[in-house]
Amino acid sequence: MICLYMKLSLIIPTYNEKENIRILILKLEEEFNLNKIDGEIIVVDDNSPDGTGIILDDLKMKYVFLRVIHREGKLGLSSAVVAGFNLAKGDILGVMDADLSHSPEKVNEMYQEIIKGADFVVGSRYIKGGKIEGWNIYRKLLSLGATLFARVYTSVKDPMSGFFMFKKDLLLNKEINPKGFKILLELLIKLEYKQIVEIPIVFINRTVGKSKAGTREIIYYLENLIKYLPYKKEVIGEFLKFILVGLVGTFVNIIILYSFTEYYNVYYLYSALLSFVVAVTVNFILNKIWTFNEKIGYKIFQKYIKFFSVSLFALSVNIFFLILLTEVFGLYYIYSQILAIGMSLVINFIGNKIWTFCK
Ligand code: GDD
Ligand code: MN
Repeated sequence: MICLYMKLSLIIPTYNEKENIRILILKLEEEFNLNKIDGEIIVVDDNSPDGTGIILDDLKMKYVFLRVIHREGKLGLSSAVVAGFNLAKGDILGVMDADLSHSPEKVNEMYQEIIKGADFVVGSRYIKGGKIEGWNIYRKLLSLGATLFARVYTSVKDPMSGFFMFKKDLLLNKEINPKGFKILLELLIKLEYKQIVEIPIVFINRTVGKSKAGTREIIYYLENLIKYLPYKKEVIGEFLKFILVGLVGTFVNIIILYSFTEYYNVYYLYSALLSFVVAVTVNFILNKIWTFNEKIGYKIFQKYIKFFSVSLFALSVNIFFLILLTEVFGLYYIYSQILAIGMSLVINFIGNKIWTFCK
C-alpha cells in the first residue's frame, strides 16, 4: 500500500551538543521545506551541563515543528530515544544523532523509502557507498567486532547504526528495553517488520564535543546480547547443532588419524592433515543440510571454501590462545586448551553463521 501523507517524528537525543544542535535544526528545517516533509523534531535533552537545553528552549520559539523533552539528568541514549517515541505524533519514527555525524540530506531519502513501502530503513555504514570518516583504528575495530556479534541476530549489515526510520505501528504492544546505547539492534530483534531497506550513509565523526560511548556502554551491550537469545531461539538451536556436528567431526578426525597412522603406516602428521580435511568436509556437509537447513547443492563450492577458511581461522585462534594462556598466563596446558577450544568454537560458529551460511 502506498500512503502519500505520513507524518514524520524525528527524535534527536542530546547530551552536551551546544555547538551542534543549532546548525542541525537549521539544516533539517531546510530539508523539510525543500522536500515538503510534514515533520516534527523531538529533541530529548538530559539536562546537559553545557546548556544545550537553554539553546533548545530558545530555538523552540523560532521553529514550530520543534519539541523539546527535558529530562533531569543523563539517563542514557536508548532511554532518551524511547522517551521521544512515547511522545511522537508521527506515523513514521526517525532517529539521528545531534553531532552532525549523520547527514540531514539523508532524512528525505529514508523518508521516501518508507513512502514507497518499506517499513524499516537503516542508514548503513557497512554497505557499498557507506563509510566512516574520522574514527581511529581502535574505534573502527570495536565497532566492527560489536557488529559481527550482532549479526548473529539480524541480517542487517549495520545493526549498530544510530540513524534509522520505521513505521510507528511496529512498536504496538512491544516492550523496548531502554538500557544502553544500541537501540537499533533492540528494535531489529523485537519488531516484526516485513520490508527493510538499508541505504548507504557516510558517518562523519563529530568535530566538536565528545563521544559518550564508554566502557559502561560496552558492558551493557554484552549483557543485552545474552538477553536477546530467548528472542531468537533458533540461534540457540543452531549453536547446539553446531556443537554436535563438531563432536562428530572430532570423532571422524581421530578415527582417520588412528587408522592411517596405524594400518597404512602414514607419518602421523600427514594423517593429521588428511583427517583435518576430511573432518572439515564432514562438518561442512552436516552443518549445511542440518544446522543451517540448506540444500546440499546450493552454492556448494563457494560455501565450502568459506567454511574451510573459517575453520582454518578458528584453528589458528585455538592455537593462539593455547600458547598465550599456557606460556604467558602460566595456565596448565589442558585448561588452556579447554578455554581455547571454547573460544574457537564460538568464532567458528559466528563466522559460519554470518558469512558462509548468511541468509
Ligand atoms: N539525551 C541523551 N542522553 N543523549 C545522549 C546520551 C544520553 O545519555 N548519550 C549520548 N547522547 C546523544 C549525543 O548527544 C548524540 O547526539 C547521540 O546521542 C550519539 O552520541 P555520541 O556520543 O555522539 O555517540 P557516538 O558518536 O559515539 O555513537 C554513535 O555512533 C554509533 C555508531 O557506531 C551513535 O549513533 C550510536 O548509536 C551508534 O551506535
Ligand atoms: Mn557521535
